[in-house]
Amino acid sequence: MKLSDTDKAMLDGAEGPAVAAAMDLLVRYGQALDAEQLCDVRNVAGTMTQPSPAKARLVREGGWHKAYAVLNLDSDGDFAIPDMKVPTCQLQQSFGPDAEGIAPYPKEFVALQTDAEAFYSRKGVNILATCTPYQVGNLPVRGEHVAWMESSAVVYANSVLGARTNCEGTASTGAASLTGRIPCWGNHHTENRLGTHHIDVRTPVVGPLDWGMLGYFAGGLVQEERPVVTGTLARPDPLDLKHFGAAAASSGGVEIYHLPGITPEAPSLEAAFGGRPVPEAVPYGERERRAVYEDLNSQGNDPDVDFVLLGCPHASLDQVRDTARLLEGRRLSSGTQLWLMVPRALRTTADRNGWTQTIERAGGRVLTDSCPAMSRSVPPGTKVFATDSAKQAHYLPAILGIEAWFGTLADCVDAAVTGTWKGDLR
Ligand code: F3S
Repeated sequence: MKLSDTDKAMLDGAEGPAVAAAMDLLVRYGQALDAEQLCDVRNVAGTMTQPSPAKARLVREGGWHKAYAVLNLDSDGDFAIPDMKVPTCQLQQSFGPDAEGIAPYPKEFVALQTDAEAFYSRKGVNILATCTPYQVGNLPVRGEHVAWMESSAVVYANSVLGARTNCEGTASTGAASLTGRIPCWGNHHTENRLGTHHIDVRTPVVGPLDWGMLGYFAGGLVQEERPVVTGTLARPDPLDLKHFGAAAASSGGVEIYHLPGITPEAPSLEAAFGGRPVPEAVPYGERERRAVYEDLNSQGNDPDVDFVLLGCPHASLDQVRDTARLLEGRRLSSGTQLWLMVPRALRTTADRNGWTQTIERAGGRVLTDSCPAMSRSVPPGTKVFATDSAKQAHYLPAILGIEAWFGTLADCVDAAVTGTWKGDLR
């Protein structure tokens, strides 16, 4: 792999041992991928603060410097971690002290995370604590090379914003933060961003439920390749695209998609394929739509719902408002809990609008920083949950061994109020 003079100097220790270890990791990573060079990044979204037993042990042994060396740089070196070289944010983490008494999460991990937040803030990390950094002001521009983790954020950055990132990991983002460099391969190259599959939609797709189901279909079809979707699509808003991408990255490993005339790198169907022949279209009609709905509800048997989870990926302000409106003047069933996950930076506005209070008056909770899948934490005794997120319906039954129902926001709120799942595909 070709290194610039600055890369070589970093590798040789000109900027200290931590940066040398970071560059060593990037060289090993880049060589394994056959990358020809590294590219500049000035926007890193990674994870440092998420607690784990391994992290707790490393912090006991050598403090946060040691934990970063081992977990974020794959190094057993004994050195101090300098300030982040380029803007870096913390993605979703675990529940914090304000979820105490609501989310059953170990106190020692809450303390560890609080300590981590203080340490990494001093190092320059923005503790956004959300899987949706793009909803709280982190918006790379089209064509910008970035280094992001979190599959739902990566697919949004590539497809909707036109930024360029692979689905990075804890160590590669840790090294990118200290060097401002990342291996230039995969989605950083234009030819790897062109469409590979064409899906022709022949049934109306309107609203987040339908966009989520279409994304789930697309991911299942193309797996890790790049779908281009045309047909009877209502013009999506950011919420629709958030659900489409998160679902496509769950049923498959989609990191970029194109919607001709909508997403920035596809002004036309032909452009989405870079002038190559457009493949034969795979239809998505009413039959396929129903099959996806049934698939996402295949883990639900018992209609008695004891937990409703909203806000995966973390909710936008519009979702908080819509949830509040649906709960206005109502009260949750005594056996059912409702959590709405929201970025902490949006919570202030939700409070100011009175939406948080409306949801809490009904018995629901507006929580930040994390989610049940990340924290492996749901209300005690949960056996059956309902969600409006194809991603959570896909993952949570496997992670926690609980049943899942999938439907619209209104179906989920009704289940929280009545304690019974009555959702159906309309
Ligand atoms: Fe975010 Fe958790 Fe969903 S991290 S994308 S709310 S699984």
